[in-house]
Amino acid sequence: MDVGENVKIIDSREENKRLIEQTAAILYESFKDVSEAWPTMEAALEEVYGSIDKDRISRIAIIDDEIVLGWIRGISMYNGNVWELHPLVVKTEFRGNGIGKALVRNLEEQVEKQGGLTIWLGTDDEDGSTSLLNIDLYEGLHEKIKNIRNIQRHPYEFYHKMGFIIVGVMPDANGIGKPDIYMAKRVLILSPQNRKINKTFFKDRPRVNLSFKETGLTYKFT
Ligand SMILES: CC(C)(COP(=O)(O)OP(=O)(O)OC[C@H]1O[C@@H](n2cnc3c(N)ncnc32)[C@H](O)[C@@H]1OP(=O)(O)O)[C@@H](O)C(=O)NCCC(=O)NCCS
Repeated sequence: MDVGENVKIIDSREENKRLIEQTAAILYESFKDVSEAWPTMEAALEEVYGSIDKDRISRIAIIDDEIVLGWIRGISMYNGNVWELHPLVVKTEFRGNGIGKALVRNLEEQVEKQGGLTIWLGTDDEDGSTSLLNIDLYEGLHEKIKNIRNIQRHPYEFYHKMGFIIVGVMPDANGIGKPDIYMAKRVLILSPQNRKINKTFFKDRPRVNLSFKETGLTYKFT
């Protein structure tokens, strides 16, 4: 399916009820069999409406200005330095077309604009989709993380492709042997075209010292 150029990523807004309802339906349909987070359509609707807040970033991918393909939300933490990505969901029949990737990139841009430094997320393994299920994570954790295997298309690999790394786990988060896998990514963009933006951004932040090397921007917190 080619969704290409007709896809736009926009803010989810309260006044746009039709788009909100579609977003909630995607959330409900996608998670009803795998998680207890949104067991009803009402719970999903409440979640989407609750995302429209100044400490949150709520973005939807739409096609032809009226069909929602996916949703991503960022939640501000640590005084805005860190944003939690939760949730990310793409409508089933549109998966595998780069929509998830586009939503994550878009959230990164939005977080960077707001001065955020890190995006993190938790991605559960409750059904053995990874090699971290049902093992003792209190022993040799770092080796186990290093050697993680994707057994059944667990989304950690999707995030890994997007530049996130595993920064830890919460053992037994979903019951004995069922961990939550924590991943994070620095959103401070180091590419040459973004240096100017970052320079302006850092100017009013005396705690950060900027310096440039041939290889790119480096910075030091003092
Ligand atoms: C995970 C999800 C958001 C990915 O969205 P998507 O639009 O299908 O992903 P994309 O098409 O942008 O994929 C980007 C890349 O990641 C890869 N990828 C996507 N899902 C993957 C998975 N589950 N496991 C491994 N790789 C995956 C794609 O193959 C693609 O790789 P490529 O760039 O090498 O071609 C989507 O599958 C989804 O909504 N799943 C259900 C909800 C969910 O699990 N959310 C995450 C909870 S933490």
